[in-house]
Amino acid sequence: MSKKIEKYTFYTTEWQEYLSQLEEKINESAYLPKYHLYPKTGLMNDPNGLSYFNGKYQVFYQWFPFDSFHGMKHWGHATSEDLVKFKDEGFALIPDEEYEKNGAYSGNAFEYNDELYLFYTANYKTDTGKLAKQALAIMDKKGTITKYPKNPILDGAPKGFSQELRDPFVFERNGSFYMLLGGGRFVKGEQTGFGDIGELLLYKSTNLVDWTYQGTIDLPIDKGYMLECPSLVTIDGKDVLFLSPMGYEKETYRYQNRFSSIYLVGQLDVEKRTFELEHVDELDAGFDYYAPQSFYGKNQLPLTFGWFGCGEQVYPIDTEGWKHGLTTAQEMRVVDGKLRRFPTEEVQKQFADKQTIRTDQLLLEYPYYHLQFELNKKQDSTICFGTKDDFWQLNLDEKKETITIDRGYLAKKIDTEYGMKRTCEIAELADNITVDVFVDNSFIELYLNEGERVFSFRVFLESEQTTISFSKETEATWAYFE
Ligand code: FRU
Repeated sequence: MSKKIEKYTFYTTEWQEYLSQLEEKINESAYLPKYHLYPKTGLMNDPNGLSYFNGKYQVFYQWFPFDSFHGMKHWGHATSEDLVKFKDEGFALIPDEEYEKNGAYSGNAFEYNDELYLFYTANYKTDTGKLAKQALAIMDKKGTITKYPKNPILDGAPKGFSQELRDPFVFERNGSFYMLLGGGRFVKGEQTGFGDIGELLLYKSTNLVDWTYQGTIDLPIDKGYMLECPSLVTIDGKDVLFLSPMGYEKETYRYQNRFSSIYLVGQLDVEKRTFELEHVDELDAGFDYYAPQSFYGKNQLPLTFGWFGCGEQVYPIDTEGWKHGLTTAQEMRVVDGKLRRFPTEEVQKQFADKQTIRTDQLLLEYPYYHLQFELNKKQDSTICFGTKDDFWQLNLDEKKETITIDRGYLAKKIDTEYGMKRTCEIAELADNITVDVFVDNSFIELYLNEGERVFSFRVFLESEQTTISFSKETEATWAYFE
């Protein structure tokens, strides 16, 4: 275990022994989840290449396998029948070519002629800054992944744009192939590093390998200084565009994390390069959510996974050698023009043995449960989860019309630089609010009204048992993960 980890190290078989030992150590962690995908070693970030291909879900992810910091990005791979149990498929992309010498960054998957095309950004640094390169790898039905021999398929950014141009998202519309790339444009003098204004660039192709730049998409929103991780799905006739802007302006309650993830509902016109905007909002009010990717699952079900993390957070268990994970797979609907996302039926089915009780205190033995209760918007409420000296809490403030998650009472403090509280406004919600809390040990997803608002966040409680104290008698339904 004494190998020195360089930031830009890529995997070779020489690392196998080290990684096996690290995996054994991590298996002892008290904070591993059971139904969230997490890295068997090292750091996991963005979900990539999400698809239903060859009769299975294919879930790829950004992965630095050697330690719990952001280093050379590989693509890890897992497959799943149900998006609850995941089979580890190991490395999908190892950045061992010159054009990707600083990592295989994020991208998506597109099925074509019975093969899965994996688009990604080849991270390439020089002494004077980055050079934007996009690359392709193709997975066949046997699961063999081959990098396209003529990579990169796109080299450099258009004039006036930052070379931080990345995260290809390829889709089909009106019989043509399109690629979205996130980036930024320079408007001031300096022409290096990130741009000054985030931009979404559109490319077109007839064969998925030769791409021509079309221009930027006109987005009538704050775009920060850089847009990351675009993805697009159509739900009930509406286009839903997902973006992860850096430098998004903070509001009183929204956009409190270092970076934000937003969704836009409306209509994308690829010819005019416009997005007719009907609604825009943040995707998640929690502390630990970023860079989601949306896709169509089995039977064209619109699904999304997010990275259960954001930026370079400091966690109390960083020395364990593993970090972050992905959210559950969430099914999406558009209700009254707004997006809702909620764990898939498969995830919900894992909590079958439901019990209901009216109480002001509930003791749950294991930290893998689904708890449901209702809140009345017109009454202040406080609900604590944990033990007397180590808990997190939910507060409903009737006057302010807000719900707040507070991590300030935890024994193991988390990423305090970015604050201990996250709040969302509930003025627009109906008087009775259904709260669903899915706890998977240190991974928590809390939903209001089946995804009208969502908080994703980590906690590291010291006890396996959780006492849930309600400020008044409440009817609560719970079930353990089976
Ligand atoms: C978002 C991101 C992407 C990039 C990847 C690198 O979290 O910064 O823009 O491709 O992570 O790991």
